[in-house]
Amino acid sequence: MTERLTIRRPDDWHVHLRDGGMLGAVAGYTARSFARAIVMPNLNPPVTGAEAAGAYRTRIMGALPAGSDFTPLMTLYLTDAADPGEIERGFAAGAFTAAKLYPAHATTNSAHGVTDLRNIFPALETMQRIDMPLLVHGEVTDPDIDVFDREKVFIERVFTKLVRDFPDLRIVFEHITTAEAAEFVASSGPNIAATVTPQHLVINRNAMFAGGLRPHAYCLPVAKREAHRQAIRRAATSGSPKFFLGTDSAPHAVERKESGCGCAGIFNAPFALESYAQVFEEEGALDRFEAFASENGPRFYRLPLNSGTVTLERAPVTVPERLRADGTWVVPFHAGETLRWRLVETG
Ligand code: DOR
Ligand code: ZN
Repeated sequence: MTERLTIRRPDDWHVHLRDGGMLGAVAGYTARSFARAIVMPNLNPPVTGAEAAGAYRTRIMGALPAGSDFTPLMTLYLTDAADPGEIERGFAAGAFTAAKLYPAHATTNSAHGVTDLRNIFPALETMQRIDMPLLVHGEVTDPDIDVFDREKVFIERVFTKLVRDFPDLRIVFEHITTAEAAEFVASSGPNIAATVTPQHLVINRNAMFAGGLRPHAYCLPVAKREAHRQAIRRAATSGSPKFFLGTDSAPHAVERKESGCGCAGIFNAPFALESYAQVFEEEGALDRFEAFASENGPRFYRLPLNSGTVTLERAPVTVPERLRADGTWVVPFHAGETLRWRLVETG
């Protein structure tokens, strides 16, 4: 049995690092495991221009623990008023690596999101021409659509048209949760890829209702039925270069989760890598873990692979029930559980 697992240093292709005190509390968890991360722009107000992205990057760098070796890759938040010129200039200058499409009101701080795809056609044309990746939160927001069907219906109503109208645009279908999404990505061209979170590999929708309402198992897109979790596990561990690591770690203060209207988001950054390793082991796919965690993402983004390594060892690690953050607490994914792999070294 493998006792130590050394892989090329991984990256997190989807993370919410927040701002202010919360940023200071959580950034170190991501930097401990990952060399780079695609940082979501859904701040309040959202990051809609190069200047705001640069200022946010500076705040992230200032929030990292001393000695961190971590590079945040910034993203632009697309609105109905997205300016193609600003996108092109900012991408050329390295101010952002990708742009994020949130359908308006799909999730946390998405009120400024896009109300109709046609409003951003000029931006998408520019992105296709300059080869800038589009990151998609793939859920419709139509209140008539059942919350568990929102990803599937997004594929039918929006994604298929997007791919048809912009055949060369590189698109990441973020945090996929359904068999339909895995199939859509697998059967699309090489310019369509997906990120997969730890929670969508580990829990199904029952986790939200286990003995009572479980706000810490609630995120968006919401976890689906067991058959979907199985499909996501097969896709992530298949060896296909189209699927890669993106945690969607999304911390909220405990009182904002445990509330009459709890926020969506699972804070998985502290043990994300350990959680993924356990899934790959369960699937008999540890030999494919490095590609998923450290190779497929940079290849899709056309960035160099990292040069360092991380080492996990087979040893039990107990996840704390809660962690101190910004004068309050955050509850990590797997709280109170014991995981089988432990991160021991970054080299
Ligand atoms: O659960 C989620 N939380 N999904 C998102 O899309 C946003 C995120 C957040 O920012 O809290
Ligand atoms: Zn997210």
